[in-house]
Amino acid sequence: MKQARVFSGIQPTGAIHIGNYVGAVRNWVRMTERFECFYCIVDLHAITIPYEGPEMPARVYEAALDILAAGLDPEKCVFFVQSYVPEHTELCWYFNTLASVGALERMTQFKEKSEQFRENVNVGLFDYPVLQAADILLYKAGVVPVGEDQLQHLELSREIARRFNGRFGDTFPEPKPELTPAARVMALNEPTRKMSKSLTGSFISLSESEKEIRKKIGRAVTDSGPQAEGEKSPGVKNLFTLLAAFAPAETVEYFEQQYQAGTLRYGELKPAVADAVVAELNPIRERREQLAGKPGDVWEILDAGAARARAVAAQTIVEVRERMGLRR
Ligand code: TRP
Repeated sequence: MKQARVFSGIQPTGAIHIGNYVGAVRNWVRMTERFECFYCIVDLHAITIPYEGPEMPARVYEAALDILAAGLDPEKCVFFVQSYVPEHTELCWYFNTLASVGALERMTQFKEKSEQFRENVNVGLFDYPVLQAADILLYKAGVVPVGEDQLQHLELSREIARRFNGRFGDTFPEPKPELTPAARVMALNEPTRKMSKSLTGSFISLSESEKEIRKKIGRAVTDSGPQAEGEKSPGVKNLFTLLAAFAPAETVEYFEQQYQAGTLRYGELKPAVADAVVAELNPIRERREQLAGKPGDVWEILDAGAARARAVAAQTIVEVRERMGLRR
């Protein structure tokens, strides 16, 4: 019997990069051993910012393909697409009546996105955190692996759970965030910004060839030379983040000592980082090629996942409707 129930979501940005991988997906795979996990590609969240409709299926497909290639076993968890399970939007509506406008106005992600997309500050963008609460609580998940940037949203999910329980009786657990252990991976060409699909030259995707990986890491921004003491510059720090994420502890230790002694050569560090990344990505790329040969299989996996998710979601919805007085 697995312990607590886990829920996490990832946006369908198309093929995923090594930042998503060490920041989320690799952890998802590991958690399936210990927990009962629900993992969701959140297309309903993705449509709150400008996008092209015809591109969405490919974005969802590519993300699913990469996640499966990264080792997620759809037998060991429930892996599905959010919009295939309409109960997410239904619960979101019920929760809308419990969420306060003031709390949503304080969400930093909402503030940032409304700055970034001034001409499209839609109600969905505002409501984004409530849909996220619905995602989690629909499955009564108690543990939510996320990055630090999602802590505020998780706090709101707990608040909504408390409010629901207070008004309608004990129904939902208060979901706790589990911070992903890996540090944030920054853009290779601009290491003060987060590695991102929308920043050209910043990322290495999971399906990248060995040659490309070496080239991109070889070109990563560093600085004019190692300093004997003091803080690492952002680019060097990022190379160490990657090393820690992909290489054995002894390798990290070796380069840390070199850095501390002021004898570190980037010409030695970069190939070591590249070796470690390549070693982990090679089998993933092979699995991806196998899966990509049979696109029908990926859609079938997602359909089967949605059916399993719906079975659980439907029960929660019945319970919520009863408690809220929406059923005779
Ligand atoms: N907002 C999350 C992000 O951008 C994605 C997400 C949607 C999520 N629903 C979720 C994460 C539920 C955890 C739980 O990363």
